[in-house]
Amino acid sequence: MNMYIKRDIGLAVQDPISLQRSLSAFNARRLTPALPTGDWRARLSRDADMATIEGDWLEEERSAQIGRAASAPREGTAFVAWIEELKITGPGQGDRLFDYLAETASLDEMRWFLAQEVTGEAGFDDLAALSQLRLPSRPKMEVARNYWDEMGRGNMKGMHGPMLAVLAQALDVRSLMDPNVWEAVALGNLMAGLALNRRYAYHSLGALGVIELTAPGRAAKVSEGLRRLGVAAKVRRYFDLHAVLDIKHSEAWNAEVFLPLVDARPETATALAEGALMRLQAGARCFARYRAELGIK
Ligand SMILES: [Fe+2]
Ligand SMILES: [Fe+2]
Repeated sequence: MNMYIKRDIGLAVQDPISLQRSLSAFNARRLTPALPTGDWRARLSRDADMATIEGDWLEEERSAQIGRAASAPREGTAFVAWIEELKITGPGQGDRLFDYLAETASLDEMRWFLAQEVTGEAGFDDLAALSQLRLPSRPKMEVARNYWDEMGRGNMKGMHGPMLAVLAQALDVRSLMDPNVWEAVALGNLMAGLALNRRYAYHSLGALGVIELTAPGRAAKVSEGLRRLGVAAKVRRYFDLHAVLDIKHSEAWNAEVFLPLVDARPETATALAEGALMRLQAGARCFARYRAELGIK
């Protein structure tokens, strides 16, 4: 049994669903703008318990990747080549779920899939903003460029987060969002946990970089499925855009974030690699569950 399950602090974390829901509520509390309240001391002490539970869970996720991540080279160029390999050999890559979505899924199945994806989406913009704190100038600048793209380069209609919301609204996926499978909730909790705890600063950068690396292939398949199902181009835009833009984002992240960080501090290679693998594994866990739910053989 897992460490966080053994811990007796009176919080509902007996099973993966309760654990992930508790963490999700914890992240909402930490990230949502709020006002001072009289019970802040009590909340702080409850949040300290949650932070411990989160830490145990993140360490469990990390421990599963330590072996493979140890093979990541501690030199910039070789490290980038190692990371790029994950596009083919990483957990969840080439999952047949995406062929199914492109070629076979019904509109309701696609809507269910999107509901899960919206749940697991922690907001690349905020994750990037949190992850760039006190980085050296070169990687900081690349995260800033990426953030600016997320912000539609200053054009509200081009912001990526709202673009996904447009799709979710047009296909009315909100009504399907509860109950969500815990694997999808866990994906968002993983990204938030890495971004909000500076001891995982490099893990977070690794996880964000591997999203850019692996998203285009999946986005293209989802977009193909949406087109097949007659979903209008302006509604599909989030996936059409990421099928193309993230190829550029990935190249830039490799060259301007991974390469200089590893060359300056070779010991960060392992942390970047662990973070990348943790993210891919969390994705793979979702794909397997989605396939099971959709009855894909
Ligand atoms: Fe984006
Ligand atoms: Fe991107």
